[in-house]
Amino acid sequence: MCVHNASVQLFVLLLLFYYFIQVPPTSALYLDFKPDEMESQNLKPIKPQGTPSWAVKIHFNSVFDSNRTTLDDAADQIAKDVSLINVGQVGELFGHYLFLHETYSNVTIESEGTNLHDLQERIERKLTEHKHIAWFNQQIIRPRVKRALNFQDPEYMYQWHLHNPSGMDINVTSVWENGITGKGVTVSVIDDGLEWSNPDILDNYSKEGSWDLNSNDADPLPSVDSKGQNHHGTRCAGEIAAVPNTVCGVGVAYGAKVSGIRALDGPMTDSLEATAFNKFMQINDIYSCSWGPDDDGETVDGPHPLAKAALQHGVSAGRKGYGNIFVVASGNGGRYEDNCNFDGYANSIYTITVGAVDERGHMPFYAEECASMLAVTFSSGQSPQRSIVTTDWTLDGGTGCTMSHTGTSAAAPLAAGLVALMLEARPCLTWRDVQHIIVMTSTLVDEGNSVWFVNKAGFHHSHQHGFGLLNGWRMVNAAKVWQNVPWMTSFATPTITEEQSISAQTSSLLVSHEVANNDVEEIELYTLEHVQVIVSLSHAQRGDLEIRLICPSGTTSVIASKRKKDTSVAGFVDWPFSTVRCWGERPAGIWQLKVIDHGSTNSGILHHWKLNLYGSPMTSNDLRLRR
Ligand SMILES: *[C@@H]1O[C@H](CO)[C@@H](O)[C@H](O)[C@H]1NC(C)=O
Ligand SMILES: *[C@@H]1O[C@H](CO)[C@@H](O)[C@H](O)[C@H]1NC(C)=O
Ligand SMILES: *[C@@H]1O[C@H](CO)[C@@H](O)[C@H](O)[C@H]1NC(C)=O
Ligand SMILES: *[C@@H]1O[C@H](CO)[C@@H](O)[C@H](O)[C@H]1NC(C)=O
Repeated sequence: MCVHNASVQLFVLLLLFYYFIQVPPTSALYLDFKPDEMESQNLKPIKPQGTPSWAVKIHFNSVFDSNRTTLDDAADQIAKDVSLINVGQVGELFGHYLFLHETYSNVTIESEGTNLHDLQERIERKLTEHKHIAWFNQQIIRPRVKRALNFQDPEYMYQWHLHNPSGMDINVTSVWENGITGKGVTVSVIDDGLEWSNPDILDNYSKEGSWDLNSNDADPLPSVDSKGQNHHGTRCAGEIAAVPNTVCGVGVAYGAKVSGIRALDGPMTDSLEATAFNKFMQINDIYSCSWGPDDDGETVDGPHPLAKAALQHGVSAGRKGYGNIFVVASGNGGRYEDNCNFDGYANSIYTITVGAVDERGHMPFYAEECASMLAVTFSSGQSPQRSIVTTDWTLDGGTGCTMSHTGTSAAAPLAAGLVALMLEARPCLTWRDVQHIIVMTSTLVDEGNSVWFVNKAGFHHSHQHGFGLLNGWRMVNAAKVWQNVPWMTSFATPTITEEQSISAQTSSLLVSHEVANNDVEEIELYTLEHVQVIVSLSHAQRGDLEIRLICPSGTTSVIASKRKKDTSVAGFVDWPFSTVRCWGERPAGIWQLKVIDHGSTNSGILHHWKLNLYGSPMTSNDLRLRR
């Protein structure tokens, strides 16, 4: 259920008020005390056990003048009177102290209190008789088991991305210990099907959120055909919500539900994609998409009009208006110098573009760079770096568990699972809140090998790793205290006609456009989020070109990089490049577009360009305070 923050606070205040009014001062407050031993042990359920320690409330009203200093001294004396040692006030509870017996530190969890009975009677008689003691309460060790970390899943131990002694993991186990596992959230995997009957999926399968668009029925079960290999969707679903049981491992959000939209096992069309993106948009909260246009180093493609409209519709109408979360993989074309700015899904402002790092935190050979990368998370690397261990299909000889799920395909579902944890913690986060939290909580990674840059708003970004490595603990904690960001504002420049020639002879073409203060202040666009630049140019060899966008602050984004394999003569026709590198910066000033021709013979013409600036009325200071 979604409740406003303010009303939650009011509710808590009322509860506290009610509690203090209703509870008579002599009734025992339930004060639990955990000795140190409990912290360090890997906890097994234990029986409640008495300890030689008592919480004591002092009659301060009648005897002392509510002065903390004098009360502390009095507590010391009272403890002596009853043969105990005062170890101080209990937390923030004025007048409440914890008294230990000298044998306290000798009591272990295993030692049943055999001699305790005599001691207990003796001490409690003294406590009862002491005139300055209002009430007391012996402290009992009560079973508190760290939740759900005793997985029976045989391959959990190999799921390094969840718990790696080196620290290279998504930092999620403490989130689970706090009871956040994705409950109440549904993640949909748009892919080649979902083996929902799989024992590692079945209990967390959402039938209501699932559909088969390839054969147009309600059952997304993957098909076993001569081409085989339709295990992809099931593997991704397992990363998200594999059930804790005796099969394989667990998902990042193992308390969430997972649905399957079967769409990749057949010809993909614009209308099919559009249908997939909005399928059961009030049931599915998050869509995980581990696919995209060909990563062959020569394709420039992305959502066509219907799919674009569906993404926009999803963020505005999905999840009861808070907006569906679309997580997309940045692509695996790194070895062909591919760049995710040539992938329209990665460029979309409505998606969360996720890249990969290997177990060491390095950029793997297959990963792509781009200016629209939001963050990275773990996946496979070059041997001996390990791949992702997840559920596998049981069809066509599959064993139900694989040690070798790879590529950015394996990264996006981890991100989707992490977002599910955030949405359990705070169901009312909008699609833009989720992006802001990722921007603010992702951490530096691979500092030795990649180029990190800090923009004028203080955010670090790299074309290789976006704002950095996703961190479950940081994401969920930020989500818990997050105030929704204000509405989105956007400003579009007119189309700027250039018709200027690009050639390898002149080193580069630099054009500029000024965005006036008035224009952006009028619409309260004070800080930027995504920036889109729509470019039309012709050139005899597209792959020779490199394009940079320079924000008014001087922050530079490489929005197109050269690609040897891209020999296309098609140029760019209104291609929407995008960058997140100016996040938080101010939009007014001179914007520059630089086209560099790395070829030697061909030439071309920059026809026109246009900027779409997206952001909000938050000021730079608002953003700084949130961080
Ligand atoms: C509390 O007691 C201490 C020590 O007796 C004294 O120095 C201090 O002024 C007292 N404070 C108040 C607020 O009465
Ligand atoms: C606690 O145990 C230690 C070592 O076992 C012993 O030397 C000490 O006397 C014990 N203290 C009490 C108060 O029983
Ligand atoms: C990971 O989570 C723990 C809480 O369990 C936190 O103390 C730690 O700082 C986190 N690590 C990073 C790198 O944020
Ligand atoms: C997921 O599966 C587990 C194990 O069977 C079950 O306890 C849990 O309730 C399921 N979650 C949902 C959301 O149904």
